[in-house]
Amino acid sequence: MLCLGIESSCDETAMALVQDGVLLGQRIVSQVDMHAVFGGVVPELASREHLRWLYPLLDDLLEATGAVMADIQCVAVARGPGLLGSLLTGLGFAKGLAYGRGIPLIGVNHLMAHLLAVGMERELIFPAVGLLVSGGHTHLYAMRSPLDIQLLGRTLDDAAGEAFDKVAKLLNFPYPGGRHLDALGQGAAPDTTLFPCPYLRNTNLDFSFSGLKTAVSYYVQEHPDLVRASMDTILAPGYEPEPDLARLCSSFTWTVAETLRVKTARALGQCPDAKGLYVAGGVAANTVVREVMGELAAQRGVTLLLPSPGLCTDNAAMIGFYGEILGEAGCVHDLELEAIPRGKPIPWDYGELTGR
Ligand code: KG4
Ligand code: ZN
Repeated sequence: MLCLGIESSCDETAMALVQDGVLLGQRIVSQVDMHAVFGGVVPELASREHLRWLYPLLDDLLEATGAVMADIQCVAVARGPGLLGSLLTGLGFAKGLAYGRGIPLIGVNHLMAHLLAVGMERELIFPAVGLLVSGGHTHLYAMRSPLDIQLLGRTLDDAAGEAFDKVAKLLNFPYPGGRHLDALGQGAAPDTTLFPCPYLRNTNLDFSFSGLKTAVSYYVQEHPDLVRASMDTILAPGYEPEPDLARLCSSFTWTVAETLRVKTARALGQCPDAKGLYVAGGVAANTVVREVMGELAAQRGVTLLLPSPGLCTDNAAMIGFYGEILGEAGCVHDLELEAIPRGKPIPWDYGELTGR
């Protein structure tokens, strides 16, 4: 089934064509530079940019892949969670295409799409435990199939990516700063005693990163010399951070990765039949998180399902990939499909042919 995937939940506008689980082509326009001026995503500007790019991206994608509109057999669109206005632009576009061409419309849960994106690079394995770590979410899941994914634990406050971005902001790094903390920390060994791993003295599978962010902010207040880089310095080619700044970046990154490791190990303990460990979302692009999760999977004898870094951050390929799986299982929507903003549960509200 040739499936068009559309992603517009936050600050990336993307469109992809996926057929039989294979990515035929993708176009992504990032708004990061525009929002960086404001230090974070400005929802109203994001929606306008999505609207501006959706049509040209489709034209460009069709031209690049040699496909024509009549080839597209279903339209999959990220229906949440995300920024409401941004989601609505993608939904309106997808509904118009589906209605105009008389093809199925499939609303896709952006989080599940992140988890399963690795299926474009290797065979999916079930049952499994899934860790989704992005700018808005830190979730652990029990995954029995692509259509049966249950939440085990979640962050009670900041998401892991949000903690990265807030700490990066304290250090005057450009938004979104997660990747800069990752890159600048790579040259230094972490001080594993600098910050406590947050919210581990319990038996649950939830996370809490806001205390860690506060601990780093106190540390930075006590060491104001750490905030010495200007935004341009960080981006200059060949920039080498001072050793104390590199050590801070490395120690913070280690603390987040270690916290994720402990709770993920706990989740694997609660799902003894798991054969795989999925790690997905923007923070899964982090070098230390990738290493730590590789070690954990090896220790527990499960297969690590970790997409290449380019597939970790927001993209439309994952929407098309999961959309095709849903479409083939008969899970489709009608034009009443609603956008679900961040913080609200995504209903399983597919049409009659759900196969569940
Ligand atoms: O999945 P994603 O692209 O968007 C959301 O759905 O949120 O994740 C974006 C998040 C941002 O917080 C960004 O700073 C973080 O992923 N991120 C990283 C890295 N690359 C992206 N965090 C740490 N290390 C990285 N290499
Ligand atoms: Zn995402």
